[in-house]
Amino acid sequence: MFVLAISFFGSCYYNNAEDLLGTANCDTTNVTYSITVNKVLTDYCTSCHSDASLQGGITLEGYDNVKKYVDNGSLIGSINQVGFSPMPKGSAKLSDCDISKIQKWISDGAPNN
Ligand code: HEC
Repeated sequence: MFVLAISFFGSCYYNNAEDLLGTANCDTTNVTYSITVNKVLTDYCTSCHSDASLQGGITLEGYDNVKKYVDNGSLIGSINQVGFSPMPKGSAKLSDCDISKIQKWISDGAPNN
């Protein structure tokens, strides 16, 4: 049961607290593409959206590819599950904290940092 709980709550140490406290403990300062955003995409998305697995014809490998779906609104729409196919497909919605981090990066202009 313990092992199940760990894998369910994922890789982020704070995920348990987030579920109880919403995004109060979510640190969205210093969000970058290479460290923050790419990590979420690698953990939850590139199993289906990579150069090797082009589900929906989409790869989320590499900044230029990701930026296309930032610019057309489908990246944020799909993870917020509003107006686009809900992602990650067939799995639980991303944590509020992960969504907030991606939202912050996009509102910073989605820099390649
Ligand atoms: C299990 C495979 C799978 C996973 C995991 C997955 N996707 Fe998808 N994704 C798909 C498929 C298949 C489509 C094509 C549309 C559909 O079937 O819903 C798609 C479509 C999309 C679209 C286009 C949506 C639209 O309505 O135009 C975006 C953007 C997207 N995915 C982003 C993501 C992101 C971001 C993640 C990770 C949070 C993710 N996907 C995880 C399979 C997946």
